[in-house]
Amino acid sequence: MNKFTPLKASGGRTVDEITGSRRLRRMRKADWSRRLVQENHLTVDDLIWPIFLVDGVNIREDIPAMPGVQRLSVDLAVREAEAAAKLGIPAIATFPRIEHAAKDLSGSHILDPENLINRATRAIKKAVPEIGIITDAALDPFTDHGHDGILREGIIVNDETVEQVAAAAVLQAAAGSDIIAPSDMMDGRIGAIRDALDANGFQDVAIMSYATKFASAFYGPYRDAIGTKGLLKGDKKTYYIDPANIDEAVREAEQDIAEGADMLMVKPGLPYLDIVHVLKSSFRLPTFAYQVSGEYSMIKAAAANGWIDGERAMLESILAFKRAGCDGILTYFAPEVAKLLKS
Ligand code: PBG
Repeated sequence: MNKFTPLKASGGRTVDEITGSRRLRRMRKADWSRRLVQENHLTVDDLIWPIFLVDGVNIREDIPAMPGVQRLSVDLAVREAEAAAKLGIPAIATFPRIEHAAKDLSGSHILDPENLINRATRAIKKAVPEIGIITDAALDPFTDHGHDGILREGIIVNDETVEQVAAAAVLQAAAGSDIIAPSDMMDGRIGAIRDALDANGFQDVAIMSYATKFASAFYGPYRDAIGTKGLLKGDKKTYYIDPANIDEAVREAEQDIAEGADMLMVKPGLPYLDIVHVLKSSFRLPTFAYQVSGEYSMIKAAAANGWIDGERAMLESILAFKRAGCDGILTYFAPEVAKLLKS
């Protein structure tokens, strides 16, 4: 038995006198005891995989700012969806890179039933009916200015945008989308989409509200991925939430729930875990976070430089979402994590 003399630094008290014999390291002493007391667990059921779509056949394009992520033509997106379903990933979310020629001031191509999103949904639904499909009813891939709304005299006009987004949601549902996830932050969009879906017989199509989407710098690589990087004039501060605000975020979520949101999402993810926590504890709705492109790329870049252990940082970041209260996480890491969890 070791017998230690009282510590000088503590004025003579022993550690047991200081802690009252409460030693939290006891349960950390071995792998078995750490496993026994582990409070949060990551499973494949927590993962939603966002994928990028591009026109053409048999196309797989690297996205330089997102190492390991590619744009896929519909035929290859179908194959990746099959692989994701085999890994047990419950759902994918699609984001299209629209040809410049199809873009205009109002993003009217979002109302084409045969646009890239809708073609992909149909093809994936047909080949892989067991995977959930989440589609983004937002104008930014379709506008020639990169904004999420119709732009008139320098202003993103709310109500007209909502009308168009709701119509687009109906087309996405008709193509087979299971969850409409509008990411544009226009006022009234959730209620308008719910009404439009119900009026067209899509009562079973759910809405995942990007309830709290912040005007963030972490979306950079995504804009590269969907080709809106050079297009965007100005910023999105008149419709996304100020990163400084928490009460406003709670009010946004409250409003979306009142309008009929089935699920809430927080975006970006890791810098906004306080928002996840407050939404989950306030509303008890299924709550998700989007670990966005910039968050993904930071981990990948640091790992590529040998500055962090990429695999551990990836798993730790995703577990942090669970701890904060997430029911699931949209993450570009989804297939990598699913494979690791399986092995
Ligand atoms: C816009 C939209 C954004 C993302 C998805 N849809 C943000 C933006 O470009 O302003 C970001 C996703 C990511 O960064 O991974 N409706």
